[in-house]
Amino acid sequence: MEDYRRLLLNNKAWVQDRLNVRSDFFTASASAQTPDYLWIGCSDSRVPAEDITGTQPGELFVHRNVANLVVHTDFNVLSVLQYAVDVLEVKHIIVCGHYGCGGVRTAMSRKNLGLINKWLRHIKDVYRFHATELDGIASDTERYDRLVELNVIEQVRHISDISFVQHAWKRNKHPMIHGWVYDLHNGLLKELVKIDPGEHAHDIYQYDFNDPE
Ligand code: CO
Repeated sequence: MEDYRRLLLNNKAWVQDRLNVRSDFFTASASAQTPDYLWIGCSDSRVPAEDITGTQPGELFVHRNVANLVVHTDFNVLSVLQYAVDVLEVKHIIVCGHYGCGGVRTAMSRKNLGLINKWLRHIKDVYRFHATELDGIASDTERYDRLVELNVIEQVRHISDISFVQHAWKRNKHPMIHGWVYDLHNGLLKELVKIDPGEHAHDIYQYDFNDPE
């Protein structure tokens, strides 16, 4: 049997499992989605969002890219974010990085990989913002781990800088934004940062909204 056929067979078994638990599973889930969480994670195959959080279909709205970045000119992540915030009105946004992230590792090096240099450039910028702290860490592994963490924290801040997020905070008092990191060695998630609705790091990123009260 060709390798990829296994996935299609698995799918049939999965459908049967779901129907055994709940006979109307697909009719119910096809009607609408009302997820409370937006997950922004790394594309890495070892960090499956639903598995590590024990969530079911319908609970997580998911966006994944290399090194879990929120880039202000990336229409893909911005579209996911705006839909999640304005239409789905998610209660929580989780940015989840992971130790051992290849994107972060590459960004720390001088490797030239062509187009992806442009994407990873954003992580090099995070390094530069925190160069004093990072250059002060003697161990290469610890410096790498810390950059993974700082990258998550930076992306969480990027979300809080977005005008439609601030507007939603004013209207709805949510979402809360979380920064987590996943450890490939033990499977555990660690909380790094949490931003409550209305919190902001710097005035320069604040927008005015003139809604009728
Ligand atoms: Co990664």
